[in-house]
Amino acid sequence: MCGIVAYTGNKKCKDILIKGLKRLEYRGYDSAGIAIISDSAAARSGPAGLEIKVVKEAGKINIMEKEAGVLKIDGNCGIGHTRWATHGEPTKINAHPHLDGSGSIAVVHNGIIENYAELKEELRKNGHKFISETDTEVLPHLLEEYYNGSLLAAMQKTIKKIKGSGTIVAISSRQPGEIIGARITSPLVVGISEDGNFLASDIPAILEHTRNFIVINDFETVRLTADRVEVFDRKGKVIKRKPFKVNWDIGSAEKGGYDDFMLKEIFEQPYGVEETMRGRLIDGELSFNELGLTAEQIKNLKKIQIIACGTSYHAALIGKQVIENWVKIPVEVDFSSEYRYRNPIVEDNCLFMAITQSGETIDTLAAIREAKSRGAKIVAITNVVGSTVARESNSVIYTHAGPEIGVCATKTFTAQIMVMYLIGLYFARTRGSVSKSELHKIISELKIIPQKIQNILKGADKIKQIADKTYKHTCFLFLGRIYGLPSAMEGALKLKEISYIHAEGYPAGEMKHGPIALTDENTVVVGIMPAGSVYEKILSNIQEVKARKATIFSIISQKDKNTKKYADYIFKIPETLEELYAILTIIPIQLYSYYIAKNLKRNVDQPRNLAKSVTVE
Ligand code: AGP
Repeated sequence: MCGIVAYTGNKKCKDILIKGLKRLEYRGYDSAGIAIISDSAAARSGPAGLEIKVVKEAGKINIMEKEAGVLKIDGNCGIGHTRWATHGEPTKINAHPHLDGSGSIAVVHNGIIENYAELKEELRKNGHKFISETDTEVLPHLLEEYYNGSLLAAMQKTIKKIKGSGTIVAISSRQPGEIIGARITSPLVVGISEDGNFLASDIPAILEHTRNFIVINDFETVRLTADRVEVFDRKGKVIKRKPFKVNWDIGSAEKGGYDDFMLKEIFEQPYGVEETMRGRLIDGELSFNELGLTAEQIKNLKKIQIIACGTSYHAALIGKQVIENWVKIPVEVDFSSEYRYRNPIVEDNCLFMAITQSGETIDTLAAIREAKSRGAKIVAITNVVGSTVARESNSVIYTHAGPEIGVCATKTFTAQIMVMYLIGLYFARTRGSVSKSELHKIISELKIIPQKIQNILKGADKIKQIADKTYKHTCFLFLGRIYGLPSAMEGALKLKEISYIHAEGYPAGEMKHGPIALTDENTVVVGIMPAGSVYEKILSNIQEVKARKATIFSIISQKDKNTKKYADYIFKIPETLEELYAILTIIPIQLYSYYIAKNLKRNVDQPRNLAKSVTVE
């Protein structure tokens, strides 16, 4: 999830691009760059006096801004990018824009190109040279390869060649004043003004220049000049599209119209989960080269050890259950802060996994160092490319949730769960521990999880109504069993973090061993009870707390007609396989915690006493 902005018109573009990028910084902030078609006495590749000048730097946008100021580059047509690294570390060389071999085509890209390795190979054979580790760099080279006097035609050919997701925007010094954009799946809007035309990943980037927008749809291309916008369908035919007007103020626009980043990030989960699957599940086939493990090594595994903190720990608990179920090898899960001090045993043929969205949590880092010193090989699962954990691990699996601004982890959690599912299935396939037909069934179900999350999100208003009626309670117990237990624990953590209400996430069967003493009319019990092997059990547990005057809110699956007799409130989620419910049940719980906290007027994006990455012990 990177940010793109582009402008062509009668104004100078450097400041427009840099200001636009700053408004998109929430989409990524590990490196930034601009490319401008500039007047130059020493032009090399463009028509008389024109060449593309690029400024890019690792780090925040103001570092690149300073450099652009020193170099004094400017012009009337340019593109800019703020990066959230997916392939290649956040270095200057990997930052966008990327150039073709002749230096006359510059490209920015937001997304993932799944077949970049084979494209690179093909292009190399034709003499193209690559300097970065990114997937994006194949794009300017493909454009160069296909260029025959029309950048638009080259782009239309290029998007047919690539597999993956994204938005691509390009300029060429051979066609000054022209910008070509293409959308595969990531957002792209056109802004229209009297002083010129814009492209951007999101409206806020250009809202100060125009209120008139056109949305570009999947597989469409667009050509901008200073006074013209032309949109083309996937066959290259011109489409007429009327602009619409936007009345947002800039502050709310950065959150995409949502009140808070947390809510926006909850709603981004279908995308984060889909992106995390991308390139690892292709046409029903699993691929996990990043793991760096041979089939032989996977077959010889005797145990898996996972360490993590907070929400990531809950993702690890889900991983434990699915891996043990599908792969049939024991999985031990530890809090990082405990593991490092408990004199751990590192056995042969034990795979060590560390889950951390930020990649900077000091406890997890210290646990990794401890395990490494005892001979363990580390696989990191993180959302941040180039983070310390990523650098110190032997291999890294990135979740592609995009940057998470809210302190409370939401979309990174579901992306972590997706990685756990994918690894479990990959190992099961390699070891033959799940039959082919069963594997096929699970994969088919996994592929439609993003759609199911989308359907749950449509019920947000219903969850809000339940929160409006229950937020004054003082004790919340989240109960679950088996696959529902990590969701229960995560639900309690979410509520505590952002509402400051006491909450417990507990195995429903353990209630009678103590916590049931807490239950009275001030208690809300959230029962995570989708269809499955423990449904009847948890239904009995719910009745036990109901008898003690608790208010019951049950999260159930679509076909359940039974629970509503016992619960005060129900919320239905789509049916799926028992192992996969965890990634669905957490969505209404995140929304419920969010709306309770909003009723209590809490700052959900920056809750008291908490930080996004915990870099102190
Ligand atoms: C989650 O909402 C919390 N902010 C917190 O528990 C977090 O999950 C924990 O600090 C671990 O962070 P990490 O995933 O970045 O390592």
